[in-house]
Amino acid sequence: MRHLLNITDLSVDEVEALLNTASDIEANPEKYARAMEGKKLATLFFEPSTRTRLSFEAAMYELGGHVIGFAGAGSSSAAKGESVKDTIRTVGCYADIIAMRHPLEGAPWAAVQCAQVPVINAGDGGHQHPTQTLADLMTLKKEKGRLDHLKVGVCGDLRFGRTVHSLMEALSRYPGNEFVLISPRELRVPGNLLVDLTEAGVSYHETESLEEEIGSLDALYMTRIQQERFFSVEEYLRLKDSYILDEEKMRLAAKDMIVMHPLPRVNEIDVKVDSDPRACYFKQVMYGKIMRKALILKLMAETGLQPRPGRVLITTGKQCKNPRCISSTEQGLEPLFYPVHQVMRHGQLTRIPTKYVCAYCDMEQV
Ligand code: CP
Repeated sequence: MRHLLNITDLSVDEVEALLNTASDIEANPEKYARAMEGKKLATLFFEPSTRTRLSFEAAMYELGGHVIGFAGAGSSSAAKGESVKDTIRTVGCYADIIAMRHPLEGAPWAAVQCAQVPVINAGDGGHQHPTQTLADLMTLKKEKGRLDHLKVGVCGDLRFGRTVHSLMEALSRYPGNEFVLISPRELRVPGNLLVDLTEAGVSYHETESLEEEIGSLDALYMTRIQQERFFSVEEYLRLKDSYILDEEKMRLAAKDMIVMHPLPRVNEIDVKVDSDPRACYFKQVMYGKIMRKALILKLMAETGLQPRPGRVLITTGKQCKNPRCISSTEQGLEPLFYPVHQVMRHGQLTRIPTKYVCAYCDMEQV
């Protein structure tokens, strides 16, 4: 089987092929209308969703297939204490492919350890959301005409915003891209992702000011402050209005800058911006369904599990320190780690003793 857990499970060439398939699906939807006839997609959503679940389901129906699943942990046997692995093993008896969203980080990596059918990560906690990235890449390709040499501002909750993590990993593989990381100090990008950017030779800087940066951007990727990931209500209330993109700020932006947002939004983009031709977030929604159609076709046609590249995994005899990591709750899941050696903040390279990062949730063990 072939799974999609992290966007880097797909090579750059494979992403290109998916974009080409998506363009063909968009132009000739009838050509694909029976491609999944007799096949079933299971949507296992242990956490709320509108776009991801419904776009996967619409995609499968439009490919001629069927859909089974649940839209909340409370309506599955997870509410009785069933493990992720047992759920996946069970659903593999009913469905040909699984799209799974789970609040615990790394849950899809546990799932594939016993999966009999392809598993797609439809979002795991504050960690990764690779199929949103497929939607985002199609948006950039369509609206900016390229995936390279882009200056992309990502703004808001960069700590818990899983879509940002996947997007940065994807865009760092194309030449000439540059990131402006706009967030409060408390919600900065996790250090291990900055290490990845540094090792990939990607230019970036961290800032707290949207106004100072917006004028130089090709694309601005706004994100919601992720209330559900906060440990403290007071901290959320203090940070929730950190950034609000309004008409006044849009006047500072280039005429051809595009505004993206994975949605749902709360108040971080004023609804008056919706009528600005640079607002692309509802186009992202449509592109998301088309890319998920292309992805289902690809995974159903392929064999050969590809492990995440370049990681040597070890055991340390310790548990992951992230209370939201799947390895802290799932029975029989061996804690695994990979080493990192440096962290970059504010352009200063700081060498630190070897740290270990959890192979499931990618959290540094400090
Ligand atoms: N972008 C996204 O993941 O939206 P949903 O939470 O509605 O699926």
